[in-house]
Amino acid sequence: MAVKAVIGTQWGDEGKGKIVDFLSKDVDYVVRFQGGSNAGHTIKIGNQTFKFHLLPSGVIRGKIGVIANGVVVDPEVLIGEVEKLKEKGIEPKLMISDRANVVMPYHKLLDGAEETYLGKKKIGTTRRGIGPCYSDKVARRGIRVGDLLDRSVLREKLEMIVPIKKNLLKIYGMEESRIDVEDLIDRYSDYGNKIRAFVKDTTLELNRAIKEGKEILLEGAQGVMLDVDFGTYPFTTSSNTISGGACTGSGISPKLINEIIGVVKAYTTRVGSGPLPTELKDEIGKHLQEKGGEFGTTTGRARRCGWLDLVVVKYACMICGIDKIAITKLDVLDGLKKVKICVGYDYNGETIENFPSDIRVLENIKPIYEEFDGWESTKNVKSFEELPKSAKDYIRFIEDFLNVPVEMISVGAEREKTIFV
Ligand code: GDP
Ligand code: IMO
Ligand code: MG
Repeated sequence: MAVKAVIGTQWGDEGKGKIVDFLSKDVDYVVRFQGGSNAGHTIKIGNQTFKFHLLPSGVIRGKIGVIANGVVVDPEVLIGEVEKLKEKGIEPKLMISDRANVVMPYHKLLDGAEETYLGKKKIGTTRRGIGPCYSDKVARRGIRVGDLLDRSVLREKLEMIVPIKKNLLKIYGMEESRIDVEDLIDRYSDYGNKIRAFVKDTTLELNRAIKEGKEILLEGAQGVMLDVDFGTYPFTTSSNTISGGACTGSGISPKLINEIIGVVKAYTTRVGSGPLPTELKDEIGKHLQEKGGEFGTTTGRARRCGWLDLVVVKYACMICGIDKIAITKLDVLDGLKKVKICVGYDYNGETIENFPSDIRVLENIKPIYEEFDGWESTKNVKSFEELPKSAKDYIRFIEDFLNVPVEMISVGAEREKTIFV
């Protein structure tokens, strides 16, 4: 029996999709437990590229994909994703929690309206309605997937919620007539009918599967720095992206999670606003962006790039209890003369070793770097031993600093470009 979780340790886009696809070879279930279609997980197999926003990455290998209670589900996106996959000849095996909250059109409108209202202070959200949907969940006025299956329940809830949303849209100066109760009931009942066969009490199903000795992989979305409690608040997403979120988001007890794998990109990226201590606004930053193809899977926005920040990853390891690390995109650093790793922050002449909670501190720190020699190429490397010496030094330094073993090294987007240490 094994339950494993894969968690992003930085600001998302660490390459979780690739790692999950690789690891899902040996599992029965792959589970998304938080976030929604703000996520964009890319998997490259041969000359095919798959981009998932809601589907768990394991569905490509024919594993059972579970969208658990902690996810906020946009049914339109989900159905579209299933259709696209079917066109590629893959019929995903799916289970969707009846407890998961549904992203409604007014959530997406409000996400955009709030961002516009914030102007220069905007979060830089994906505008997928994530924040407004989670807000409704916590305020106990959310629509759950189970509600889509019963037209009268849906009507009752929408007749209560929609007037509030219309007023809110009016406050933001938006056309409230874009939201109509009857239209929503029709469309969302229709979505309910389309997904009815997949809707289950996924918590019961997963716990039963664990008892039967099945293997389960929990697929995190976003990263620790975007966690609503532990990230660079308020420049975060609206869910718990840390390993603890895997329990609340799936109904699997913390006692049952055997292994937590932290995905660490060999450098740092971030999309949207908020502090990024190691950001490089120079030629090297541009080089990483171009070579790493650092453009958002969901929004196409350019990702900000910088050196690897181990203060961030150490903090992620502590909060998530990371057992093993998967380093991704090491190949993107190929060919650089020197590479740097941030090991601390300088704040008004004082050295800070732990990630600060105060965003005003974060905005005024300078990274303290350790410098390494670069290396030529990792492209065709198949084992740790074959890596260039300075790349090995880079990896060993990360392991020593974090006191967590590196188990996987990814040197290319394709499945086979993965080194198991
Ligand atoms: P996720 O959100 O964490 O799943 O990551 P994304 O899919 O948003 O972004 C990672 C990007 O890097 C994708 O385009 C992957 O195909 C690609 N990728 C993953 N691992 C590697 C790697 O080791 N090297 C390179 N060059 N690209 C990679
Ligand atoms: P994956 O799973 C990178 C960022 C947005 C924004 C902030 C809040 O692909 O790693 P939201 O729409 O969630 O309210 O936006 O979070 N963000 C991500 N950044 N990868 C993601 O997902 C992200 N999901 C959200 O850019 O800064
Ligand atoms: Mg992504």
